[in-house]
Amino acid sequence: MTPANQYLAILHGPNLDRLGERDPKWYGSDTLAIINAEIESLARELGFGTQTFQTNVEGEMIDRLHAIESQCAGVIINAGAWTHTSIAIRDAVSQLPCPVVEVHLSNVYAREPFRHKSVLEDIVVGKILGFGKDSYLLAVRALASRHERSRQE
Ligand code: DQA
Repeated sequence: MTPANQYLAILHGPNLDRLGERDPKWYGSDTLAIINAEIESLARELGFGTQTFQTNVEGEMIDRLHAIESQCAGVIINAGAWTHTSIAIRDAVSQLPCPVVEVHLSNVYAREPFRHKSVLEDIVVGKILGFGKDSYLLAVRALASRHERSRQE
């Protein structure tokens, strides 16, 4: 059994508040509110609470990362364009006390070369991309089974 106070933090970076209108070819037509609701529902089914957060301001994302407590069972982050550029976000992610999954809606490797580089990929436990909103849902499942395994060890 997962203790009731276990939660997953779901962090969305810049421009992801525009989902639903933004470039549906890459990002689909669901809004961030719809995606968050699906994440919350799956997480609840698997025994986890969720804390969801989106910002377009880099310093706010860094403050949010600093606020993550040790009872956080895992972090799912779609850092948007900061993925490709921000050493400050990387430094904050690298201090987290729990496993982190990097997520992207689109297959960044099928896009412009500047999206092929991630400053996070070597400090996260894994990365899921290209499945639209299912990238987040797969990340929830991956963190839940990793958490269960680590509790059994
Ligand atoms: C993204 C991919 C990034 O390259 C882009 O800047 C985004 C969204 C994705 O989810 O596919 O904002 O992270």
